[in-house]
Amino acid sequence: MRKASLHGQWSSRFAFVLAATGSAVGLGNIWKFPYIAGENGGGAFVLIYLLCILAIGLPIMVAEIMLGRRGRQSPINTMRDLAAEAGASRFWSWLGWLGVIAGFLILSYYSVIAGWAMAYVVRVASGVFEGATADGVSNIFGQLIADPEKLLAWHSLFMIVTMLVVARGVKGLERTVKFLMPALLVILILLVGFGMEQGAFEQAASFLFKADFSKVSSEGVLTAMGHAFFTLSLGMGAIMVYGSYLPTKVSIGSTAVIIALADTVVALLAGLAIFPIVFANGLEPGSGPGLIFQTLPIAFGHMAYGSVFGTLFFVLLVFAAWSSSISLIEPAVAWLVENKKMSRMRACIWAGLATWILGIGTVLSFNLTADVKLFDKTFFDILDYLTANVMLPLGGLSIAVFAGWVMSKENSASELQLKSPILFNSWLFLVKFVSPVAVAIVFLKAIDVI
Ligand code: TRP
Repeated sequence: MRKASLHGQWSSRFAFVLAATGSAVGLGNIWKFPYIAGENGGGAFVLIYLLCILAIGLPIMVAEIMLGRRGRQSPINTMRDLAAEAGASRFWSWLGWLGVIAGFLILSYYSVIAGWAMAYVVRVASGVFEGATADGVSNIFGQLIADPEKLLAWHSLFMIVTMLVVARGVKGLERTVKFLMPALLVILILLVGFGMEQGAFEQAASFLFKADFSKVSSEGVLTAMGHAFFTLSLGMGAIMVYGSYLPTKVSIGSTAVIIALADTVVALLAGLAIFPIVFANGLEPGSGPGLIFQTLPIAFGHMAYGSVFGTLFFVLLVFAAWSSSISLIEPAVAWLVENKKMSRMRACIWAGLATWILGIGTVLSFNLTADVKLFDKTFFDILDYLTANVMLPLGGLSIAVFAGWVMSKENSASELQLKSPILFNSWLFLVKFVSPVAVAIVFLKAIDVI
């Protein structure tokens, strides 16, 4: 296999951990996790999600990084070459295609939500939330999403900035993340502190950690599992591409553990910051995608220097979204560069333009076309369901099957270099049996086949 990637290489293991954590930690942790936990009744959902991270997410992350490093190209070409190496069908390059498409679909709505966060930077900084009531805060959110022009403007700005960073290539990514994660962590802890002092913290903690399994449906289990993929950026080749820029000596196993741990801590902190405010203000935990925008401003409106911290929080959230978006579009860009012989700049323009256009559908689904529904889902809901609950689990399942069954044991062992044979065999057992079976059962149950 190739020694290095056409697109460059990370300068160190630390650079890879930063970039991969930057990809993993994003709107999924701070915006999505709390609202889907709220919609699915809390505790039991959170427990299932944690279990999925551990038993499905982690082994698949190891597998995905490994495939990327061995293939050293965009997911499509990596899968084609690795399949050839293993003497398997060329059909496997479809896995790469699935990923390129999933990343493009996700980014199209991800960018719109990141746009909300950008809009909130301005709002919090202007002081509109100072002393605001829960109703006042909800109204401000309602006004924002009811205005398609504003949403479109923020979505456009976010896409432009993202594509500018991507156009600069791998090296551009490294610097963006270094200071951001620690700073975000500090503000989150501060917010949890606010919740402890002034919110309904105990109620929030028992909502998040007391498991009542009667509250989750099989659909909820699928959502929890899908979110484990989403939050770790798995199942579509994002981490595979990042892995393809990884120097050969780095240990994949321990790196994956660090990334998953950091990602989980951020999500749980976000939950612990948001739910005390939800309960203290009599808000509805299941109020949907607007949850953080309807809760956190209440905290910022009532704490000392709230406008300063609030502004900083939303700035950091935008940065976290950026470092994730980059990985959503990187597989497509890497493929355009490799196969269509485009310059990186041109590839970015085309990929960015297509994503931007599709994003308009999401913008409108919160206002003008909010009533246009298919199976009771808006355009945004459909994209979210299709990607997080269908495409990522199927992509992850295929990655597990490929790593566990198709690739030879010698090759995976030599690529992983795990410290002990016990570790390697446990990993192999997880990707061969546990992950594929679990994904298949959850998926088939949710769509009522079994
Ligand atoms: N993990 C990111 C988040 O939690 C989103 C993301 C980035 C992603 N790259 C991805 C999701 C690849 C799935 C696949 O916000």
